[in-house]
Amino acid sequence: MKILQAKEVTKRFGELAAVKDLTFEVEKGEIFGIAGPNGSGKTTLFNLISGVYSGSGDIIFEGENIHGLRPFQVCHKGVARTFQIPILFPSITVYDNIRVGAHFGVLKGKNEKERINEVIDFVGLRGRENIVAEHVDLFDKRLTMLAGALATQPRLLLVDEPIAGLSPREVRDSVALFQKINRELGITIIIIEHLMKVLVEVSHRLMIINNGEKICIGPPEEVTQNKEVIEVYLGG
Ligand SMILES: Nc1ncnc2c1ncn2[C@@H]1O[C@H](COP(=O)(O)OP(=O)(O)OP(=O)(O)O)[C@@H](O)[C@H]1O
Ligand SMILES: [Mg+2]
Repeated sequence: MKILQAKEVTKRFGELAAVKDLTFEVEKGEIFGIAGPNGSGKTTLFNLISGVYSGSGDIIFEGENIHGLRPFQVCHKGVARTFQIPILFPSITVYDNIRVGAHFGVLKGKNEKERINEVIDFVGLRGRENIVAEHVDLFDKRLTMLAGALATQPRLLLVDEPIAGLSPREVRDSVALFQKINRELGITIIIIEHLMKVLVEVSHRLMIINNGEKICIGPPEEVTQNKEVIEVYLGG
């Protein structure tokens, strides 16, 4: 079953087509990796899916076209995201930052406090939840942002370069955490990442884009052997 279908999605900034006629599908339950050179349109694609921008074409989530909805509406439908550069309120605690995230999403079901405490344990922030956000390190800032997204109880999670600048150990922990989110919570994940080794390890399928266009999609072992991918992205 497809959880997301993008059909001929295009976003222009003046003359520049940052995303161009992009068509692809994401299966429910998979970890779907996206890579491509700097400026190839990866973050713009996330901005389109999450309602930050709207362009042309269809973005179908669980059978419903969500293209053009506002970000909070997309979140209420069950899609959450994290940002390439951690977006947090620096002067409030980790806990309160997660609460802001939780507020953005669905408010039915479990009470908010319970949801927040669950995600704090799940991502491994317990013990650091009362620290003011500007005083935690980059890894914990990323975990805070991720926890806020998880607290909205998404069925699809978009993560934009979650491991850039982390230590090898933090990278390993991040990979394990994404796999745990996928397996234990049953959340479908789309992950943008430059480090191919990590992307290949974590993804069930991969899509490589260049200049806003899809150049290859498939299982990691196939994509990394693709001639055009080697040419434009991996280096020959
Ligand atoms: N709001 C905007 N206004 C004008 N141009 C933009 C805007 N956002 C993105 N772009 C341009 O669109 C193109 C795609 O940018 P995008 O941020 O999506 O790339 P990316 O693949 O995420 O790159 P990176 O790997 O560096 O994060 C770039 O040329 C960028 O300069
Ligand atoms: Mg980007």
